Amino acid sequence: MTILVTGAAGFIGSNFVFDWFSESNEDIVSLDLLTYAGNLENLSSLDQNPHHHFVHGDIGDYDLVSKLLEEHRIRAIIHFAAESHVDRSIHGPRDFIKTNIVGTYHLLESVRAYWNNLDETAKKAFRFLHVSTDEVYGSLNEKAPAFTEKHPYQPNSPYSASKAASDYLVRAWFHTYGLPVLTTNCSNNYGPYHFPEKLIPLCILNALNGMPLPIYGDGQQIRDWLYVKDHCDAIREVLARGQPGETYNVGGWNEKTNLNVVKTLCGILDELKPKADGSKYENQITYVKDRPGHDRRYAIDASKLERELGWRPQETFETGLRKTIIWYLENDIWVNHVVSGEYQHWVKKQYS
Ligand code: NAD
Ligand code: DAU
Repeated sequence: MTILVTGAAGFIGSNFVFDWFSESNEDIVSLDLLTYAGNLENLSSLDQNPHHHFVHGDIGDYDLVSKLLEEHRIRAIIHFAAESHVDRSIHGPRDFIKTNIVGTYHLLESVRAYWNNLDETAKKAFRFLHVSTDEVYGSLNEKAPAFTEKHPYQPNSPYSASKAASDYLVRAWFHTYGLPVLTTNCSNNYGPYHFPEKLIPLCILNALNGMPLPIYGDGQQIRDWLYVKDHCDAIREVLARGQPGETYNVGGWNEKTNLNVVKTLCGILDELKPKADGSKYENQITYVKDRPGHDRRYAIDASKLERELGWRPQETFETGLRKTIIWYLENDIWVNHVVSGEYQHWVKKQYS
């Protein structure tokens, strides 16, 4: 049997593919459009792996997806492919609507047609796992309880609105057509292969290059942080034992202000790569204009996943962040390739 992973050349997708092969020999078809965020280099260590099949293509390409499903007799789909960066969604929402909403719709339709033709046993065993975000729930005040799966959807950015719409489509394909779907809503991931437009990798690289560490607004916004491998483990658990039609929150029980995240990161760098002049990386912190509509706090209650499937994160924020920083220090070739080209245009547009 084979699984189809969409968005496999992105940050979480590529980590998922590695995580999968560390536990299983089951084949993966990786489908990715290779947008600015997709990087084949992430998967290059699998070039000789006969169980891995990379396909360059769009989730919105009905004929291509139908062909892949048939040819590889796909038994499950893990749907990561998306436009994922909130700031980019503010500059230009169009691609978010196109991929996250319309792309997911086309994907669901190719999958539904394929699934309808499976025999009863295969139909029952089939799964469509949709990877979503905690941002669909909106913003919490400081004292509010963490998001449970029952929290109303209140998305505030074009990104989160597009993810919320895709969650609703997935839900509707379950209720209306019976497609066996699972949805996960996860908090902020960090770890290897994270594109350096996001807070943690951006600050690691800026710190090492003597550049400003940009903190939006007062830096007191709170996010919950989860090491990416823990997220991948959670997805495998949900795929194996989750109940079709159910949603599962995934989180690290690690609420931190942005300022705290960046200061912790600076402290680890001071230890691992002290600056030649003896100054602290923290001195590079610079307060910049806030993100429009910036959500104040996200917090995830992941107790359903623990109660029903026994999943808990393995990494603390300190251990996961240290592993992440070491990875960036040891992978300068990957970093140098990633920060050339389009990335430079983005940094100019967003920070100058
Ligand atoms: P990413 O931006 O690093 O990767 C997205 C991947 O999707 C890229 O490889 C890109 O080329 C591919 N892609 C984009 N449009 C496509 C299309 N039309 N067809 C095929 N491939 C396409 O994103 P990520 O951070 O790895 O996030 C993966 C998923 O997880 C997203 O759905 C995101 O909403 C969700 N998520 C991310 C986080 C996080 O902290 N990064 C947290 C919760 C949920
Ligand atoms: O919560 C899950 C979400 O986490 C995912 O759904 C998204 O795909 C993922 O990108 C991430 O969204 P965020 O907007 O939370 O991540 P980002 O790293 O862009 O920002 C984290 C926080 O840091 C946020 O409050 C904004 C702030 N920030 C970000 C950048 C890039 C800064 O203060 N300065 C920056 O330069």
